[in-house]
Amino acid sequence: MNTPIAKTPDRLRIVSGLAPVHAASFAEDVRAGLCASRKRLPSKYFYDALGSALFDAITLLPEYYLTRAETEILREWGWEMVRSIGNPVDFVELGSGSAVKTRILIEEALRAQRRLRYSPIDISEEALRASAVGLVESYPPLEVVAYAGDYFSILQTNAIARPGRVLAMFMGSNIGNYEPRDGKELLMRVAAALKPGDGLLLGADLKKDPAVLHAAYSDPTGVTAAFNLNVLARINRELGGHFDLSGFAHIAEYDENAGCVRSYLEAKRAVSVPIDALDTVVRFASGERVHTESSYKYSEEDIARLAGETGYEFIRSWNDAQGQFSVNLMQRR
Ligand code: TRP
Repeated sequence: MNTPIAKTPDRLRIVSGLAPVHAASFAEDVRAGLCASRKRLPSKYFYDALGSALFDAITLLPEYYLTRAETEILREWGWEMVRSIGNPVDFVELGSGSAVKTRILIEEALRAQRRLRYSPIDISEEALRASAVGLVESYPPLEVVAYAGDYFSILQTNAIARPGRVLAMFMGSNIGNYEPRDGKELLMRVAAALKPGDGLLLGADLKKDPAVLHAAYSDPTGVTAAFNLNVLARINRELGGHFDLSGFAHIAEYDENAGCVRSYLEAKRAVSVPIDALDTVVRFASGERVHTESSYKYSEEDIARLAGETGYEFIRSWNDAQGQFSVNLMQRR
């Protein structure tokens, strides 16, 4: 006899298929990106099982201060953040976020109010389920209504409309991985889905000494290089690619004018790489690069300006003791 399937608790609902996405497949994106004159690969493909584990390892690197700094800020100031627009609030989070950081804010909210509804939006239904199950088990007063889909499409439905106050969050340095125009567009869509008076907590990495930024994206142990190279290994595994990873180097450069760390994979010598599933051969000149990610850094003025331009009043920001990272509160006008 089969063991009965554990009943999904009443406090957990996962809504999917609300806004079907016509997302390009991995194969289509690889073809478009590697056949372009300036080669690129979308950074979302970093995060298969191995890539996600390598990213978790990055967060443990002494050089990669971002995750630790944000966690410190939430531990220190989370109590103030969740009380900042009045209680009770409902949480809406873009990206289901690392359980550790979200938990800090959930625990603080449950000190300020008796119940909490938490609505994460994430592209991966599996990731949503995994984190949501742990959360409802840990916190009896918590109700999770999660939305599987991409941010833009879910925000366009009125799924996250709530009668009461909403505190939305977009943490990590997630905003930094968007080109400025796209990041603006996303914050405007969030504003359109919120009501006047609702809040948005935005995590953002701060502009700083280029050497510190460079080290954070190019550590000496090579974990970051492995993380970046894994996207080529993934093409080998999933699309029958024939990349020799030793022929490519991880490069991170900070463009101080743009306030952006750009990561690349650079061909050490000229090489032709067949990709069986695409029925194609990709040619690389010696020194040719594939752009894999941009990580924009912000100043407090940049963030205040961004808030004003996207429909919010900038309220305040909280920093870690070393002033490396910021969590910012803005309120929908
Ligand atoms: N999104 C993370 C960031 O911008 C991921 C990341 C860390 C990353 N190190 C990297 C992406 C190196 C590419 C290359 O901070």
